[in-house]
Amino acid sequence: MKIEKRKNLRFDSKAAYVPPDEATKAVTPPIVIASSFQYDSDIFQRILDGERKDVNIYGRCGNPSEYQFEDQMMVIEGADACLATASGMAAISITLLGLLKSGDHIVCDWTTYSSTHEMLDHRLTDYNIETTFVDTASSAEIEAAIRPNTKVIYFETIANPSMKVAPIAPIVKIAHDRGIVVVCDNTFASPYVMRPLDFGVDIVVESATKFIGGHSDVIGGAICMKSDLLPDDFLEQIRWNTMVKLGAPLAPFNAWMLGRGIQTLSVRLERACRSAAALADYFENHPSVKQVWYPGLEVCSLLKLKTAMKRLRCLIILSLAASPPVLVGSEQLLKFRH
Ligand SMILES: Cc1ncc(COP(=O)(O)O)c(C=O)c1O
Repeated sequence: MKIEKRKNLRFDSKAAYVPPDEATKAVTPPIVIASSFQYDSDIFQRILDGERKDVNIYGRCGNPSEYQFEDQMMVIEGADACLATASGMAAISITLLGLLKSGDHIVCDWTTYSSTHEMLDHRLTDYNIETTFVDTASSAEIEAAIRPNTKVIYFETIANPSMKVAPIAPIVKIAHDRGIVVVCDNTFASPYVMRPLDFGVDIVVESATKFIGGHSDVIGGAICMKSDLLPDDFLEQIRWNTMVKLGAPLAPFNAWMLGRGIQTLSVRLERACRSAAALADYFENHPSVKQVWYPGLEVCSLLKLKTAMKRLRCLIILSLAASPPVLVGSEQLLKFRH
């Protein structure tokens, strides 16, 4: 089934379906672990002509197992293009370095994953790229922070670690009225819970290490794009201009593991959402718990977004009386039982 047709399936089918391998008809895709591929001047010319995904030369530039994962991500995220990366941080760095140059400016939410915040606040400043941090729930704060050289507005769908839910539509409107690209980290929601590209976001970055892999045994990332602001081949441009130069491709075995994770994403997440709701309920008034951060609780001021993000209740964070806040994954929950 062609990608465009797969995009019309229901989410569960989109996630579960992988077309049989063309050469062998295997229903489980083969893993191509080759670092190098035989090529000649014709193949090289095809690469120069832009046929980049159809021909292979060297693993750092792309590989069929990686393309298989990219296709699966494209389908579940509702994207026009996808670029797989070695990690979630590689997806974020490659996206920002591909979009920005010295002298550019970013507006970013105060709450993002710590390494993202540190990269914006420390590393990118070394290259004369500045960031203003704001509360993206406030349109006034975003508007006040925008400068003539602002090129990107960046936020997380559900922020790590505060679980704050971003109001996507107003952010996109402010950005697009000014020709600014919107980049969103969708890791904590996953495409099962939320697909920001459907709401006008230009680029979604994912740490596939989390819900997409699902078993705490693989690191990987993805950049997904659907944008009227960026050229159609933008991700192919940054594959070659940025990802290949930084050297951060997704390894073939990891691509295969993540592709397999996608096939069970909806069943795992459905259960995770149910469990998170039950846990949030239980811990809300528990004497050993100071605070529960959970996007589904009444106290969450962003509940008004419920209609746009129907199933955002996939994660909870507990702040225990005697320890720092804990992001609850299945392994930690097992620990709590002792
Ligand atoms: C929201 C978010 N984005 C990005 C990352 C980075 O992902 P990775 O560890 O795959 O590089 C993380 C990691 O915890 C994260 O929580």
